Amino acid sequence: MTSQNGLLRVENLAVRAQMGGRIFYIVEQTSFSLGRGEILGLVGESGSGKSVTCRALLRLLPGANLSIAEGQVIFDGRDFTAMSEPEIRAERGSSIGMIFQNPASHLDPVMTIGDQVAEAITRHRDVSKKEAWDQTIDLLRQVGIPDPTRRARQYAHEFSGGMKQRAMIAAALACDPKLLIADEPTTALDVTVQAQILKLLMELRDKRGLSIILVTHDLGVVAQVCDSIAVMYGGRIVERGPKRDVLKAPFHPYTARLIACQPAHGTSGELLPSIQGQPPSAGNMPEGCRFHPRCDLAVAACREKVPSLTERAPTHLAACPVTEARA
Ligand SMILES: Nc1ncnc2c1ncn2[C@@H]1O[C@H](COP(=O)(O)OP(=O)(O)O)[C@@H](O)[C@H]1O
Ligand SMILES: [Mg+2]
Repeated sequence: MTSQNGLLRVENLAVRAQMGGRIFYIVEQTSFSLGRGEILGLVGESGSGKSVTCRALLRLLPGANLSIAEGQVIFDGRDFTAMSEPEIRAERGSSIGMIFQNPASHLDPVMTIGDQVAEAITRHRDVSKKEAWDQTIDLLRQVGIPDPTRRARQYAHEFSGGMKQRAMIAAALACDPKLLIADEPTTALDVTVQAQILKLLMELRDKRGLSIILVTHDLGVVAQVCDSIAVMYGGRIVERGPKRDVLKAPFHPYTARLIACQPAHGTSGELLPSIQGQPPSAGNMPEGCRFHPRCDLAVAACREKVPSLTERAPTHLAACPVTEARA
């Protein structure tokens, strides 16, 4: 979370939903930053607002009833929230590439893999068909697809899950973006393939200086791959900081529970503890700290006021009045 050398700065982002006359917030007061070549792990249970946050960066919200209500997204010195629609459209894919959990649903079944990557190139760049095709083969090779000249002529159904995700990564990198948003990119893959894709992402960071936002609910993945972590709960970041610090000494009880619920080495087969209760749903948030109904440490203040993030160690912030008072 370096401020110098920064690539992305998200300030006080809020996403609002409108449903049947009701208005509520899905993401609130979300701020974080990302340096060049940094990998940020965005973690939290399902429904915590990770995908909506990522999509908000590119103003690609997953519903017409959603809108950015507040905040700024400063990418490479430019404010994405202040751009016109054609301007932001030009940034999608060229400044920031995105990949998702289920590559199959984002690939066209009746177009060859190569044509889809080539199309991602020609969408933003004025190059000949031949140049686009050559670059496609090169990209497929860079993402570890063997025999790329032959594979480029095949269709999605001829690719395994891991190879499909590699093809999606190639398409996302087609215009050499500085940031890749990977939303649960390995959740649908088996463990061996998952490890290969994570290794590829790290290689791409090392070789291209690519910054990555890696959305995952798996802290094991974060521990392996990321430099920094932001933990989301109920549409807010409740803790963020350098990976080592957050995993070693979490200050938010939710982060501590997530870590405790993570399978450790050699404990496979044992029943893991889980966090009691359900996460709150958007439009139905408890007052005060969103986590207080499930928190062992909650005191009266937690029910009354949403705690703000405070710095506990250099660049390590958490939003919990109880652990703050103890320090
Ligand atoms: N179009 C929409 N209208 C209303 N609520 C939505 C809409 N899209 C997503 N949500 C809600 O926003 C919350 C955050 O969703 P999401 O960002 O997809 O969570 P995550 O990626 O962390 O699992 C969820 O409670 C979800 O139900
Ligand atoms: Mg999601």
